[in-house]
Parts: sequence; C-alpha cells; structure tokens
Amino acid sequence: MEVLVSGGSGFIGRAVVAALRQEGHRVRVLSRGTVPTPSGVSWARGSILEPNRLPAACRGCDAVLHLVGIIAEVGPQTYERVHVDGTRNLLAAARSEGVSRWVQMSALGTRVGALARYHRTKWEAEEMVRDSGLRWTVHRPSIVFGPGDGFVNFFERMSRWSPVLPLIGGGRMQFQPIAVEDVARSFAGALSRPATEGQTYDLCGNERFTFRQLLAEILRVTGRTRVLLPVPWALARVQAALAEWVVGRMLGRPPPMSRDALLMLRDDNVGDPGPMKRAFEFEPMGFQEGIRRYLPAGPEQKSGARPSECR
Ligand SMILES: NC(=O)c1ccc[n+]([C@@H]2O[C@H](COP(=O)([O-])OP(=O)(O)OC[C@H]3O[C@@H](n4cnc5c(N)ncnc54)[C@H](OP(=O)(O)O)[C@@H]3O)[C@@H](O)[C@H]2O)c1
Repeated sequence: MEVLVSGGSGFIGRAVVAALRQEGHRVRVLSRGTVPTPSGVSWARGSILEPNRLPAACRGCDAVLHLVGIIAEVGPQTYERVHVDGTRNLLAAARSEGVSRWVQMSALGTRVGALARYHRTKWEAEEMVRDSGLRWTVHRPSIVFGPGDGFVNFFERMSRWSPVLPLIGGGRMQFQPIAVEDVARSFAGALSRPATEGQTYDLCGNERFTFRQLLAEILRVTGRTRVLLPVPWALARVQAALAEWVVGRMLGRPPPMSRDALLMLRDDNVGDPGPMKRAFEFEPMGFQEGIRRYLPAGPEQKSGARPSECR
C-alpha cells in the first residue's frame, strides 16, 4: 500500500514508518520539517493547519495513519487547532482524494468530559474519525517508552545532576507503559487486519506502575540513588505555570510540564491490553527490559551487583 503517516518524523512516527517499511508498504511522511524526516520515505511538507496543502499530501494514498498531536501548547499549536481542526482538515483531504482507510492516534484517558483539554480534544478528534465514513481504527496508548522518548529520558537526565526527583501529587497515580515498537506494530498491523476496522484499542503493557514505581525503575536500571520527594499538587501547578510562561511563551518551546498535563496526571492511565494482544498477536515488551536497551547502565548493573534502592 501507499501510506501517508502524518507526524512520521516524530518519536512514535519514526517507529511506525520503520514497521510499515518492514511490511513492504511505500511510505509518505507529512510534517512541517522542524525535525528531519526518516530516510527511505517521501516527504509531503506541510502543516495539518494549512488545509490547502493536504489534498496533494493524500493524493494516491490507500491509507492515512494520523499521528500528529501535541502534549504541550506552543504559539499557534493549541490542542483545539492541532487535535480538532487539524484532524478535520486531514480527514477532508483524505476523503476528497478517495483514501478509504484511516488509523487514528489518540491517547489512553480520552473520553467525554475528561479533566484535561488534551484528552477532551483527542476525544473530539476520535468522534470525527468515527463519523467520517472511512474505514477507521483508533489507538489509545498509555505512556510510550523507547529510544528518544520524552518521559523516561526526561527523568533519567534529571537524575544525572539532581539529588532529588519530584513525586508529583505524591506519585500514586498508575500507568501501564508500552514500548514504541509495540505501538508501531499495532499501527502497521491494522492495515492488514480487516477485523480491526471500526475498533478502538487501548495500547498498553501488561504491567501497572505507580509514578513512584516508574521513577524507581529508572533509578534501578541506571544504578542511581536519589530522593523521591513528594510535591503537592498546588506547588506543582505553580511550577507548571512558570514553565509555561518561561519555556513556552518566552523561549517558544514545549514546556517540560504544563497545567493541562498535571490534570492528566490526576487520573490513572491504565487500560486493558487484551484486545490489542489478540488483534495484533503479540505480547507487549516489559518496561524494565525495554528501558535497559537505551538508558545508561549504572556500575552496579554492569558488574551484576544488586542495584541501589531509591529512597
Ligand atoms: N509519546 C507518548 O508517550 C504518547 C502517548 C500517547 C499518545 N501519544 C500521541 O502520539 C502522537 C505522536 O507523539 P510523539 O511523542 O511521537 O510526538 P512528537 O515526537 O512530538 O512528534 C510529533 C510529530 O508531529 C509533527 N507535527 C507537529 N505539528 C504538526 C503540524 N501542525 N502539521 C504537521 N505535522 C506536525 C512533527 O513534525 P514537525 O514538527 O516537523 O511538523 C512530528 O513529526 C501524538 O498524537 C501524541 O498525542 C504520545
């Protein structure tokens, strides 16, 4: 098939492109070009916020895998514009060019009336896809880990220099992380499995971790000992507002934490991996096994000694 991957140059997009190419598909990537496009694919340069450019990007494609999304708002890239208007624009272009198959990137926690605008706008996008008349599949991943990820690498980098890691809200909320390769095979696999049409899948691993346990796993793998310091929600909110102002507004970059992302952290981010495992026929990679592949191993890990415990 000829497949358009919107956001195919991003962290997850690159893995999706690799999985598609392995299955023999021809791949076209739609992105603005702020990060390099993977090699071996053609590039349709453009923003999903510019409807005029999108029909040409979709022309001649059999399927669209729509991955573009933002975790933090910067300038014109707001949740409403990117998730809702952008999905509407690309859907219209796909329909006008006769594309019949669509696989949508959503997120676990997406539902009507969710606290976070990220989740509410992802829900609106899902609804547009379900009403589109195309043959659709929706994927909702939990936190995605793998080389180049945002979450694990952020806390690993922080633990290089900081004696303390923040346990936001006490760190009791739960996650069910999934490897980027498993997300990628679910996207690519949907194209060859008609039974996945009209279905919405939770993409998550078998294991549930609290936020505290996730940080402890990162410290265990890197062999570091750091204090896990509870940060009350109110203080985290002040810090997030500051980060939005300084990093988002003044530097024009996505802040490491936003008030909307804090709202997401108030909910457990867990699901049922059963339907995904049955539909795409794989067992998800374990979190510790997965992060060992790309985090620097600590001296205890290299020598095989017992890892340091976090406090
Ligand atoms: N990472 C996770 O843990 C996670 C979990 C659940 C769901 N998701 C969802 O997965 C998707 C991908 O996440 P990611 O972590 O791979 O993000 P990412 O690394 O930031 O990649 C985003 C991609 O979208 C492109 N893009 C951004 N704005 C665009 C626009 N206006 N028009 C066209 N392309 C645009 C970017 O390229 P340019 O900047 O060059 O345009 C890039 O290719 C998102 O929808 C996200 O909500 C991620």
